[in-house]
Amino acid sequence: MARCFYNVRKFALAFGRRRVSFHSVVTHPRLILGIETSCDDTGAAVVDENGKILGEALHSQKDVHLKTGGIIPPVAQKLHKDNIDRVVNEALLSSGVSPHELSAVATTVKPGMALSLGVGLSYSLKMVNEYSKPFIPIHHMEAHALTVRLLHPVEFPFLVLLISGGHCILAVANNVSDFLLLGQSLDEAPGETLDKVARRLSLIHHPECASMSGGQGIEHLAQYGNRTHIHFTVPMSQQQDCNFSFAGLRNHINQVIQKKEAEEGTKMGHILSCVADIAASAQHTVALHIAKRTQRAILFCKKEGLLPPTNPTLVVSGGVASNGYIRRVLQSVTDSLDMSLLCPPPKLCTDNGIMIAWNGVERLRTGAGILHNIDGIRYEPRAPLGTDISESVRKAAIKVPSLKRLLG
Ligand code: KG4
Ligand code: ZN
Repeated sequence: MARCFYNVRKFALAFGRRRVSFHSVVTHPRLILGIETSCDDTGAAVVDENGKILGEALHSQKDVHLKTGGIIPPVAQKLHKDNIDRVVNEALLSSGVSPHELSAVATTVKPGMALSLGVGLSYSLKMVNEYSKPFIPIHHMEAHALTVRLLHPVEFPFLVLLISGGHCILAVANNVSDFLLLGQSLDEAPGETLDKVARRLSLIHHPECASMSGGQGIEHLAQYGNRTHIHFTVPMSQQQDCNFSFAGLRNHINQVIQKKEAEEGTKMGHILSCVADIAASAQHTVALHIAKRTQRAILFCKKEGLLPPTNPTLVVSGGVASNGYIRRVLQSVTDSLDMSLLCPPPKLCTDNGIMIAWNGVERLRTGAGILHNIDGIRYEPRAPLGTDISESVRKAAIKVPSLKRLLG
């Protein structure tokens, strides 16, 4: 790590000369460096306080983890360590900004994989010490929720659905650092389910899907499949709350795969002839489950007056929000309930440094959580988002209309 910082220092010296004359003439918008290492992407970006992305870099570990069949935390940690200095330098260099010019460094400190979070945090703390910069600790899910405001002028409060490989959350965003948690997954996240199903279907051996994440592979194959050929039950239809559960659905899908393998005489590790039908039905059932809980969340918010009466907005983000089918199902829900639906583009839905830098900008603007003293700062692998009101949602026991009519 010492060597890494030597590189950043050299880089800073190279920019030092330019800075002197520059600053004496013009006042610049404040600049934030964002650093993300909560899972398997090493990301960094420089964003100014007007939301202009000045430079960015991303190193994805996806290919390595696809080969090992899942993320092995010490492997992820090593890859973050190997790449973080290069990624940060690339983001700074492409932005033409020296570390001296930064107004603050914002870094994901929660929630996420402990070993991965630790790399980003210790790198960032050395950097803020070295350059005497304020530090902005970032909640990864808050960053996913706020990314949309980098591109669209969405006013608070809005409803947000965060669907990724590690999370499934429905919340009301009241402001930058004030969220009401309506519901979350009781077991696994939808991206995790799709990743595990893709692995069980051996999509790594499918010529068209070998380099795709599990969710992407399922979406790709689902285009060629017929979802009505195989039926999976939508989870939790008897529970009138906004929580989610995907583990039972995954077990059901695995049972069907096993049965089909027996019928076709296919060995585990080979591709089933009905793989596209399974993908289409799995994707459809995941989409319906997400849509049902979202429908209820919207109705709850309307009943309790939690959203503005005019032009209320649902924001959908996280890696699974890149899924076009899930977006279309959600669009039908929002259309039927007079809501606007906004999703950041796929590149900003998955993990990246831009969303962390932008969250830093949002916090800098409001003055929330800017640390000038970093003593005792720790990463937190588990961290809830906002105030949990899921019990009130459950007690309201809101019935939702059938989605069949909406989807045709
Ligand atoms: O937000 P993200 O990059 O990382 C986490 O915080 O988890 O999300 C990664 C997840 C993976 O599970 C991946 O399979 C899923 O997002 N994903 C998708 C699609 N693209 C990525 N799921 C469904 N459809 C997609 N097109
Ligand atoms: Zn994420």
